[in-house]
Amino acid sequence: MRKSLFAVASIVALAVAAPASAQSPMVLKFSHVVADNTPKGQAAIKFKEIAEKLLPGKVKVEVYPNSQLFGDAKEMEAVALGDVQFIAPSLSKFDKFTKKIQVFDLPFLFNDLAAVDRFQEGKAGQGLLKSMESKGFLGLAYWHNGMKQLSANKPLLVPADAKGLKFRIQASDILAAQFQALDATPQKLAFSEVYQALQVGTVDGQENTWSNIFSQKFYEVQKNITESNHGVIDYMVVVNAKWWNGLPKDIQAGLTTAMAEATKVNNDVAGKLNEEAKNKIEASGVSKIEQLTPEQRKQWVAAMKPVWAKFEGAIGKDLIDAAVASNETKTK
Ligand code: SIN
Repeated sequence: MRKSLFAVASIVALAVAAPASAQSPMVLKFSHVVADNTPKGQAAIKFKEIAEKLLPGKVKVEVYPNSQLFGDAKEMEAVALGDVQFIAPSLSKFDKFTKKIQVFDLPFLFNDLAAVDRFQEGKAGQGLLKSMESKGFLGLAYWHNGMKQLSANKPLLVPADAKGLKFRIQASDILAAQFQALDATPQKLAFSEVYQALQVGTVDGQENTWSNIFSQKFYEVQKNITESNHGVIDYMVVVNAKWWNGLPKDIQAGLTTAMAEATKVNNDVAGKLNEEAKNKIEASGVSKIEQLTPEQRKQWVAAMKPVWAKFEGAIGKDLIDAAVASNETKTK
């Protein structure tokens, strides 16, 4: 593991994208793993539109959704090598590069997406955008998806219902610990493999946002979805720091503006797209949406929250405290 991280960090320093010339625009690839009709999918398309409008003839942005170009396992390395210029992995997928960003994986940390937003916009959240600079990666923005829901082929109403089941998780040790705390078995799997794993029963359940559960059709192979809102799936748009810092100033400025606009679009549509996805799943009648009573919810919190103490040293108490404080509505 250490060796491969070192290798990635070294190649980051070498990678550059082809410069723009008078004849040909600079081709910038944006690779991600979800569908176009999701918050990230929509924001990537908006980024392309605005960047090409602001920098006519200077840049051409190609968006590759659905792991078409690179899946979870390869996308950071692809940025390091200069094979792709923009990616927006889920915040759970930076585990190998820094433990700090794992703060977002702590179960029942944020009350809602508004709290996540306040944390990301505050000093601590903005600092995390630069937390992988020593590895050669720079975070340009956070993009929202939404809160996670738990699914399986049986109702998950109390923690004991999850006991003995195998759950697909993203590549995060905190998410592994979260399911171990339920006496369930976590299985790290790339996003592109989840549908099939659920279909053939390699895993029994998973956790994801409404928009991912709908657009990837997970609901078609899961009989029950609990509206647990127990965690968050959001993204960091990441670039190769050396490449970004070496861009001609006009191009960097145009891309920065396009990123800010796309981020605004993402934040505007994320809640709506997740709500629509939930309604479509409900209307399909294929999967039953389970609601928790306040008492049942308390049981999930009690079962999962001990995970915080295990990771406090690696993440840092200051970061966890700042995240908790973001549940207050006043601006920090
Ligand atoms: C994503 O939303 O980018 C994928 C999340 C997952 O791997 O579950």
